Amino acid sequence: MSVTVRVPAKVNVQLAVGAARPDGFHDLANVFLAVGLYDEVTVTPSSDGLRVTCEGPDAAQVPLDRTNLAARAAEALAARYGRTPGVHVHIVKDIPVAGGMAGGSADGAGALLACDALWGTNAPRGELLEICAELGSDVPFSLVGGAALGTGRGERLTALEAGGTFHWVFAMAGRGLSTPAVFREFDRLAEGRDIPEPVASRDLLDALAKGDADALAATVRNDLQPAALSLFPELADTLSAGRAAGALTGLVSGSGPTTAFLTRDAGSAEKVAEALRASGTCRSVRVASGPVAGATVL
Ligand code: C5P
Repeated sequence: MSVTVRVPAKVNVQLAVGAARPDGFHDLANVFLAVGLYDEVTVTPSSDGLRVTCEGPDAAQVPLDRTNLAARAAEALAARYGRTPGVHVHIVKDIPVAGGMAGGSADGAGALLACDALWGTNAPRGELLEICAELGSDVPFSLVGGAALGTGRGERLTALEAGGTFHWVFAMAGRGLSTPAVFREFDRLAEGRDIPEPVASRDLLDALAKGDADALAATVRNDLQPAALSLFPELADTLSAGRAAGALTGLVSGSGPTTAFLTRDAGSAEKVAEALRASGTCRSVRVASGPVAGATVL
């Protein structure tokens, strides 16, 4: 017997970052949108303890030890319910690794939901969300999906209304970026400056609620983008190529280095994707739309 859960990637349409807190984290106003690029996490009972395997083009970069969020999720749920986490977790990875699209978080949320179903623990939703928040700031959103505002370090979620489907193109870079390194670069660039409290933009939330791609394009904003560009200057070429190809706007997704391009419709997304593939400024290109549902048992 086994259970498979499908979990989407995310793009941040707004990532407002406050000053570093005493605990090293940053307060955020983080507007998440779940998009239709998915990892699938399958759990199967295993007599030789907790084991993680992974397949997919980027599988070699995925840690298979206890640092993998999927392994930590299985351990956390087992610990709460006094069980041993005897499962084989297999990840079919389609979300870019270290790409700023919450691929690791998706696997954490997926393994948690899958183990909950496999073991019949039926943990209340609030408890699953609590475990997600312990695993990482983006993990609760991977569980709920859709569109949401994350405050605190991004883990406290308020569901948002999205009045339509937004069409995106994602350009994957030739290497990854470490999220802590990007936040450290944000701190370095911010030195000596006053950092305002992070707040969600009213205009952006309205654009999202109306499903208005032009208005959303005019209001998207990622405060981590200058830090990501500072560590990975070639991303500027990818952003220029996507904008020149007709995207409404382009931005770095989360801590990067994946770049995200908002387009007016599905046809335009295909055209932008083709131009980006031909541009030689990225490793690969994918088209995906959102919002989509969060982690779902198949
Ligand atoms: O929460 P998560 O484990 O995903 O965070 C990874 C790293 O990103 C943290 O160790 C921290 O360096 C940085 N981070 C932050 N502020 C946040 C979220 C993450 O500084 N709100």
